[in-house]
Amino acid sequence: MKTFPKNFLWGAATSAPQSEGHSLQNGKSATTWDYWFQNNPEKFHENQGPEHTSNIYEMYQEDCQRMKEIGLNSFRTSISWARLLPDGKHVNQEAVTFYRDYFEHILAAGVQPIINLFHFDMPMWLMEKGGWESRESVNAFAFYAKTAFELFGDLIEKWTTFNEPIVHIECGYLNGAHYPAIHDFKKAVQVGYHTLMAHVYAVKAFREVKPKGSIGIILNITPAYARSDEQADQKAKENADLLTMKSFLDPATKGAIPEALVQLIKKHGLTPATNPSDKDAIKENTVDFIGLNYYQPLRVQAPVNPRFPAQDPEDLYTPYDWPEKRINPYRGWEIYPKALYDVAMMMKNEYDNFPWYVSENGMGVANEERFMDENGMTQDDYRIDFMKEHLDYLYQGIQEGSHCFGYHTWTFIDCWSWLNGYRNRYGFYRLALDHNFKRSLKKSGLWYKEVTQNNGY
Ligand code: BG6
Repeated sequence: MKTFPKNFLWGAATSAPQSEGHSLQNGKSATTWDYWFQNNPEKFHENQGPEHTSNIYEMYQEDCQRMKEIGLNSFRTSISWARLLPDGKHVNQEAVTFYRDYFEHILAAGVQPIINLFHFDMPMWLMEKGGWESRESVNAFAFYAKTAFELFGDLIEKWTTFNEPIVHIECGYLNGAHYPAIHDFKKAVQVGYHTLMAHVYAVKAFREVKPKGSIGIILNITPAYARSDEQADQKAKENADLLTMKSFLDPATKGAIPEALVQLIKKHGLTPATNPSDKDAIKENTVDFIGLNYYQPLRVQAPVNPRFPAQDPEDLYTPYDWPEKRINPYRGWEIYPKALYDVAMMMKNEYDNFPWYVSENGMGVANEERFMDENGMTQDDYRIDFMKEHLDYLYQGIQEGSHCFGYHTWTFIDCWSWLNGYRNRYGFYRLALDHNFKRSLKKSGLWYKEVTQNNGY
């Protein structure tokens, strides 16, 4: 039996834009996702947009009972910025009523809510002013954060500012998967810098408002593994770690952007515009904990045909197709559970044993209806095996002293996922794409209940 530390958080995560539905109702204004879907529905898997998602807006009361049913002791979702502040300035009272009641129901179910502020959902009113490209976004986000802390700080003890900030930077400004889908490395760096400062000033607002509890940030960790020990491959690994991981992890925990990153960016003419007081603000506003989302590692090699100055991260490190990799046949991502042990050790040894938790880990499966039995239960043994394998390595890291305080899966109920629509299913509950939004418990939900009740397996 592997018993996890006392008060270990066992839970699942989702986000407002992926679960609430009512995307243009009840006072919510449009985000880039609503706008993009209205204008280019063909970009989305089977033309599936964000209007309904899993309809938690209407179903949260019964869904909180479902959290209980599978033994969750914690649950992460986010607030929708465009719902709370439809024009960036004025509070939508309907949103306040909704979120307060939703959070109260989560608490009444004996579940600890962890509330995130931004999960890829840029309001259109801000996008029209340049979004994260504009410095205005920093103040706008800090104001939103302060408003949320004031309105919900009495209910919520654990807050996070951003989910996977690297993703909206890469997908929006380098690889085309998020709006505005442009390719411009310099803009991507500026967007990244503003995102970092928005995070920093949100933490500052948290300290000023002084709600109870703690604040963190959620980063997607794709630990980089080099093709070989050769110097050029090792350098590529270092570049990948600097750009995709340390760019947020170091300022958030150590209060400074790594000097090696500052120099790398400078060398390639990518240095962003900054304000003189930013450096001190970064130093003074570190977080209390870190959430790390882990799905798959990043395999890298020395850049193949690099350009100078770099036009793209691939000029600094190039993805490498590791011949020995194990693949999730239902999603195509690599499965490499040992990375969770490596991350645990990294947090212990390189980050002064900073408190952290696994804020997302999960197995996406396309066409999952093929695994449903005659009673409608998805027999997702593959997902149970996936979680067990990852937990085995996490457990080992904890045994060796890493300060990990929880494990959250992605996700609670199957949800809508950006351009992928409802293609990849991850939930403990299957979501039917009908007008009733029927939820059916999967076998993994039953398994997770046992794990959470026994604090291990
Ligand atoms: C995570 C994101 O990285 O991946 C989620 O935080 C997303 O928002 C999840 O839904 C799964 O992605 P996909 O592409 O497999 O549906």
